[in-house]
Amino acid sequence: MNDLFGRNIDYLRLSVTDLCDLRCVYCMDPAGVEKLAHGDILSFEALEELVRCAVALGVTKVRLTGGEPLTRRGIVTLCARLKAIPGVKELAMTTNAQTLERFARPLREAGLDRLNVSLDTLDPDQYRRLTRGGELERVLRGIEAVEAAGFPPVKLNAVLLGGVNDDQIRPLAELAQQSPRSVRFIELMPIGVCARFDPARFVSAQSVLERLPELRPLDRDGVALRYTAPGWAGTVGLIRPMTDHFCPACSRIRITSRGFLKPCLHDAAEIPLRGLHGQALTEAMMQAILCKPRQHHLGPDEPSGAGRAMYEIGG
Ligand code: 5AD
Ligand code: SF4
Repeated sequence: MNDLFGRNIDYLRLSVTDLCDLRCVYCMDPAGVEKLAHGDILSFEALEELVRCAVALGVTKVRLTGGEPLTRRGIVTLCARLKAIPGVKELAMTTNAQTLERFARPLREAGLDRLNVSLDTLDPDQYRRLTRGGELERVLRGIEAVEAAGFPPVKLNAVLLGGVNDDQIRPLAELAQQSPRSVRFIELMPIGVCARFDPARFVSAQSVLERLPELRPLDRDGVALRYTAPGWAGTVGLIRPMTDHFCPACSRIRITSRGFLKPCLHDAAEIPLRGLHGQALTEAMMQAILCKPRQHHLGPDEPSGAGRAMYEIGG
């Protein structure tokens, strides 16, 4: 269905857990997340019902997020159940890939269509520090497993922090040189623990382009501007929430792992869906779509109004 600004809402991001097996410095406190009581998290039945309802309102693409979706017990079964819902044309997942190597094939068999992998550096020590304990080698094996399992080329998402991992722009971009992958650089957003980040940490999409002068504009893929270079098999994408509001092209809604619908990532508005069924659920979802704001107002001095951490919303 369309929102008040004529945007066709066809994309649902569904957080299936707020737990994560990493603690990225820009996302979590060192202490991590307090584990939700089992009853706080949406059951598979509830998730399925939410997706059916969203599909009836025009959603065709569903992405599972977290936290880390692979930490949710039974995630492969969940994928199969969601993919079986008529009208779910594309089922995707965003993962940090720590355990992806063993999940890639079962997920493909369950009908998952696409995987995005978060990867902020190719330096193993830096990876361990940035993620507070993650192992780079596991991610690289996960990516290979995805490609071997017959998925379309992965999209790799990198968040850059000035003075921390901006030396990785070229090494990361070059992952798209030999193979048709897409490496996407996402501007750091002032949300959660980095709500008021030091301006020196912010790396603009423009400065990524300056570091990769061979790139030539290609097209737009959702919220990413894509570039490629002569002889490259893949692409580099720039996602610029801070320097270019892509809100006019936003077609998404989000549901948190506790069952709140967020019409906009950066807005405090949340519509509780838990416990609603049938017509009441449909009406709540329609209301939520109709209160999707025109745009967010993020800026260096304007932190996100999300009122929640990224691991709760799912990015
Ligand atoms: N700004 C931009 N991206 C972020 N992510 C997590 N926190 C932020 C932030 N503050 C990214 C993760 C992952 C995706 C789900 O969201 O790196 O790739
Ligand atoms: Fe986990 Fe993603 Fe947050 Fe890193 S950014 S701690 S991988 S939820």
